[in-house]
Amino acid sequence: MGAMLPKGVPAEEVFREISSFTGNDVDWRTGKVMTGLYDPGAEAHAVAVEAYTRFLPHNALYVNMYPSIGKMEKEIVASVAELLRADDEVVGNITSGGTESIMMAVKTARDWAKINRPAVTAPEMVLPVSAHPAFLKAAHYYNLKVVQTAIELKEYRADLASFEKALSANTIIAVGSAPNFSHGSIDPISEMAKIAADRGILFHVDGCVGGIYMSVMRRMGFELPAFDFSVPGVTSISADLHKYGYAPKNSSVILYRNRDLRKYAWFVCSSTTEYVVINSTTQSSRTGGPIAAAWAILRFMGEEGFQDIVRRSQTATEKLLAGIAKIEGIWVLGKPDMCMFTIASEQFNVFEIDDEMGQRGWQLIPQFACGGSPENLHVSLSQANVPHVDQFISDLTEVVNHLRENGPSVDLEEMKRVVDAAKTKSADEAMFEIIPVIGLTGMDLPERMAALNTVLNLFPAKLRDEMLTMFFNMTS
Ligand SMILES: Cc1ncc(COP(=O)(O)O)c(C=O)c1O
Repeated sequence: MGAMLPKGVPAEEVFREISSFTGNDVDWRTGKVMTGLYDPGAEAHAVAVEAYTRFLPHNALYVNMYPSIGKMEKEIVASVAELLRADDEVVGNITSGGTESIMMAVKTARDWAKINRPAVTAPEMVLPVSAHPAFLKAAHYYNLKVVQTAIELKEYRADLASFEKALSANTIIAVGSAPNFSHGSIDPISEMAKIAADRGILFHVDGCVGGIYMSVMRRMGFELPAFDFSVPGVTSISADLHKYGYAPKNSSVILYRNRDLRKYAWFVCSSTTEYVVINSTTQSSRTGGPIAAAWAILRFMGEEGFQDIVRRSQTATEKLLAGIAKIEGIWVLGKPDMCMFTIASEQFNVFEIDDEMGQRGWQLIPQFACGGSPENLHVSLSQANVPHVDQFISDLTEVVNHLRENGPSVDLEEMKRVVDAAKTKSADEAMFEIIPVIGLTGMDLPERMAALNTVLNLFPAKLRDEMLTMFFNMTS
């Protein structure tokens, strides 16, 4: 049945029905969701919700009709720019999230290059393999060639030699992360930006996940390498409000070094019978809710509030890292710079650890092997997780002991045999081959994902992407 009925039903009925859908949803209030959730706590949440709903009807496209939205946007951009040590030349806008900020940075670079690098006919983007998929998406949409470069496998940062070697006469934009999502480590931004600048290449810093948080860390005296506009050669930075800015989704900031660069972000059109469109983002009509909520969060928490969160989160992260170091057979990859890291193992199947932790209520993110990084489980700690870190360590210890005592439930050798036979086939044939071993009985994903993740991890990325496309196209 669809949502629309011939005749409407009372509001109580609507909400009773909606509530009945949520039985299988993860409960975000448990403090055990360790990814994709940035809960600022009940009081701040209520402030954000109130601000969001007040500005929900406002269309942020029409800043002439709603100057309040324009004012809040300017003030948020100024605050984030200040955190990122911008000078007065830096300008920016609010987007719906990291992906949109990154799309804007890439589109701007492409259009900048058309005018400023006319010799480039086939533009390229160079980025470490640890840079977020949003860049590959932007390249796909805006028709840039992607050149992925290596990461070093000690601290999981961009490998400078590989980066430098990949730059060509066609490179128009290069990227570093501060930090990358997967391992929580900052790339050598100063060195990369210099290498790019020396060749006239724009350099974007992806501070989506950590730009705000690590700027607060820096201001508190934590030692971090420079990753912001204080670095010569950095031409744009993305920093999400809706991650460690603790604002509700959807809000992010894209900052450009100056108006000469931002000029290429705009899309203006007055050549149709319609109203004039003037956009600095990919979205046009959009609610003012996220902008108002982000403004309210910044105002309500103040720097003191953010510092308190950072202090508690970093203490909790150290406790987690120390606790994990005591568990035999698992370890943390590299040298995370903030409250994000990944757990790997050679003795145990991390996807089984994930399932077992899931049974105990924990939500982590499985990541596949790539670029020399082994398959792992990602943890993004937020302030809501802080009171639960002892429980996390105790559950993780129990899970590892359980796997040690009971052995694996996924037969890795069999999975390898199945994948070896399937990986030379087309996506639909390969899919057919793996269905019997991954516990897929219908159109829904299995409750235990270890077999499926183990199999997917063994496939080459290209075929894996095709299979996932097919699956989700069939089932959604
Ligand atoms: C480093 C980094 N960049 C970009 C993104 C994409 O952000 P969004 O999911 O808001 O589009 C993420 C998301 O986790 C991220 O961690």
